[in-house]
Amino acid sequence: MTVALNLQGVACTFVSKDQPGQRYTAVKDVDLTVGAGEFVSVVGPTGCGKSTLLNVAAGLLAPSTGAVTVFGQPLQGLNKRAGYMFQAESLMPWRTALANVSAGLQFRGVPEEQAAAQANEWLRRVGLGGFGDRYLGPGHSDPPVDGKRVARHLASQEKSRAVHHP
Ligand SMILES: Nc1ncnc2c1ncn2[C@@H]1O[C@H](COP(=O)(O)OP(=O)(O)OP(=O)(O)O)[C@@H](O)[C@H]1O
Ligand SMILES: [Mg+2]
Repeated sequence: MTVALNLQGVACTFVSKDQPGQRYTAVKDVDLTVGAGEFVSVVGPTGCGKSTLLNVAAGLLAPSTGAVTVFGQPLQGLNKRAGYMFQAESLMPWRTALANVSAGLQFRGVPEEQAAAQANEWLRRVGLGGFGDRYLGPGHSDPPVDGKRVARHLASQEKSRAVHHP
């Protein structure tokens, strides 16, 4: 099995939100191996550390202790082989639907025309063909918004995906 993601002995300790003088360990002793092509769900009650672990896997949060490897390489900084569909709304309201969907590709250096073509194709595939030039204000959570998040995520063609939804 090709290992896409491996967490070994991961712990994340924060300054406590309730008592700033205290430290709070959100997760500890986490060993997790995800094979390439494997579908894994992390399930647990609110506050148990699901987002914390996904943030570690995406390279947005460095663990306090432990090691993270991505396809066998130690993870340093952002995990460029992961897509991350955030729990919270993460669209950029100043960008059109198309520009939101193509953002991930642009950030990876895909030429603008190619990124737009792929983004248009993904908008079409999630039922939003023809909506590319629309703007939706922050706070919207209607189907087109979710569709754009999905389309942007899929368009960026990552090797592993972290889909984060309650
Ligand atoms: N940056 C931070 N600073 C302080 N505490 C934090 C921080 N991030 C997370 N925590 C705490 O760590 C714990 C785990 O949080 P996390 O967001 O990972 O939980 P979750 O399982 O994703 O919850 P939910 O199901 O509500 O999304 C919570 O008690 C949270 O308050
Ligand atoms: Mg969460």
